[in-house]
Amino acid sequence: MAATGAEQRNERDTERRDPGTYYVSTPIYYVNDAPHLGHAYTTVAGDVLSRWHRQRGEKVWYLTGTDEHGQKIMRTAEANGVSPQEWCDKLVEEAWKPLWRHLDIANDDFIRTTEKRHTERVREFVQDLYDRGEIYQGGYEGPYCVGCEEYKSFGELLDGEGEFAGEKLCPIHRKPVEMLQEENYFFKLSAYGPKLLEHYAAHPEFIQPESARNEVTQFVRQGLEDLSISRSTFDWGIKVPWDDKHVIYVWIDALLNYATAVGYGSDQAKFDATFPADVHLVGKDILRFHAVIWPAMLMANGLPLPGKIAANGWLMVGGEKMSKSNLTGISPQQLTEHFGVDAYRWYFLRAIAFGQDGSFSWEDFTARYTSELANDYGNLASRVAAMVGKYFGGELPEATAAGPAEQAIADGLTHALAEADRRIGEELDFSGGIQAIFDFIKQVNGYLTEQAPWKVAKDDSPEARARLATILYTAAEALRACAVLLNPVMPESSEKLWTSLGAEPHLGPLAEQDVTDTARWGQLPPGATVTKGAVLFPRLEEPKTA
Ligand code: ME8
Ligand code: MG
Repeated sequence: MAATGAEQRNERDTERRDPGTYYVSTPIYYVNDAPHLGHAYTTVAGDVLSRWHRQRGEKVWYLTGTDEHGQKIMRTAEANGVSPQEWCDKLVEEAWKPLWRHLDIANDDFIRTTEKRHTERVREFVQDLYDRGEIYQGGYEGPYCVGCEEYKSFGELLDGEGEFAGEKLCPIHRKPVEMLQEENYFFKLSAYGPKLLEHYAAHPEFIQPESARNEVTQFVRQGLEDLSISRSTFDWGIKVPWDDKHVIYVWIDALLNYATAVGYGSDQAKFDATFPADVHLVGKDILRFHAVIWPAMLMANGLPLPGKIAANGWLMVGGEKMSKSNLTGISPQQLTEHFGVDAYRWYFLRAIAFGQDGSFSWEDFTARYTSELANDYGNLASRVAAMVGKYFGGELPEATAAGPAEQAIADGLTHALAEADRRIGEELDFSGGIQAIFDFIKQVNGYLTEQAPWKVAKDDSPEARARLATILYTAAEALRACAVLLNPVMPESSEKLWTSLGAEPHLGPLAEQDVTDTARWGQLPPGATVTKGAVLFPRLEEPKTA
């Protein structure tokens, strides 16, 4: 039986402690290097999702941050001749936070795993598990990938070729694994397989997309092994509370950011109002950590589980996952310099079906920018403003002669809103939701072509003036809705449009418009002062080729 979106929401809400806050997270990224297109992809998606919900009038908490412990960071810092803490401080302040500001990411908090508010609570959480008998001491030997910070099973390793001939490689990083043997502490993860499977079955929306759910279900069905949760061969980490020769495994440390950042163990009221997350956005490389280990940790500690683990696909380059070692050579900043921040935010979500892999291409970005942003949307906005200026002295006229063509636009908007709200707000189908809005923009362009206000303007009769007024009002009112619907995706250009339509004095700030109310026709009042504002999407310069 298929439940509607609303029913599913209600059902889930009754299980959550407080449905009041819509809590979205990104992974906390490793700071061994500066952020690249892949990190920005997940972070922009989270920003659009959380802005969408904010604009529904919901209370939202959007969390991102950095993962600073573990061997990978330690080795990078050593290689650069600084302490790990110095390395992290520098990268966070000079690379990570500035990029998120640059991309207009409106996160509510930024957690770093080296902060005291995190480290102390992690120790408490792990101590609590220990006291509950969920942790025991044992030994382990196996192949370890430092890139993943994870023990691998022999079965999943690849045979090395070329420079790695004769070695076994991590299937994700395609680098040799290291054999590790340690006396460790173990979490009884194996005990949680049946409960996890039960949860996946009872909550089909828990892991998204379906391919990801199938993969995880399959993996858990094969039987889980207990998880080594401490390391003793290096010390860049949080000390195990009862045995300071060990540091807590970086993934246990990292996953707990989702709890420590919202007041676990320190601010119970905030924790109850926020936790658990509605959506953990992750790349599919780290799906199992979030869909298997994290819920098992929560079950073991009697805490509620998140609503959804949503895995985005990989941005690919040359047929491989884009990573710092095989970058396109293109940084997010280079793209924003050429296309602008708004277009950047829009492009990756528009061009790639969320959950599937996709390749970046300069040509595709250019083509979509020109046809959809500059021609369809930007031109529409500037033409309408210019005509209101030319024919009505910049004062928005009243629509006194509306007919079926205008009704069709209002209906098109109702449809676009319903699609966008369901796809972006519920299904995380950003591409489908954005497309619905741009289909509406196309519809409005078609309407103008058919109605040809520039022709109607040649006739001075009162009937023709009324038609002209109606056509331009309709187009401006449609643009009012576009500004609201696109604000979560492209805040800067939406604001420019809002200003150009003269909407703010009558309707208030753009960010305060309830997105679910966008299709209520006639909000922009006649008499509003329409000005030809800045060009929303300027013509592109010739790309500087490397
Ligand atoms: O895994 N395509 O951090 P990380 C799409 N610290 N997304 C990509 C991507 C690509 N080519 N490359 C990276 C870690 N990402 C851990 C997480 S969470 C408790 C700890 C994105 O720096 C994607 O979201 O390796 C992926 O999961 C994440 O960056 C990995 O970032
Ligand atoms: Mg990684």
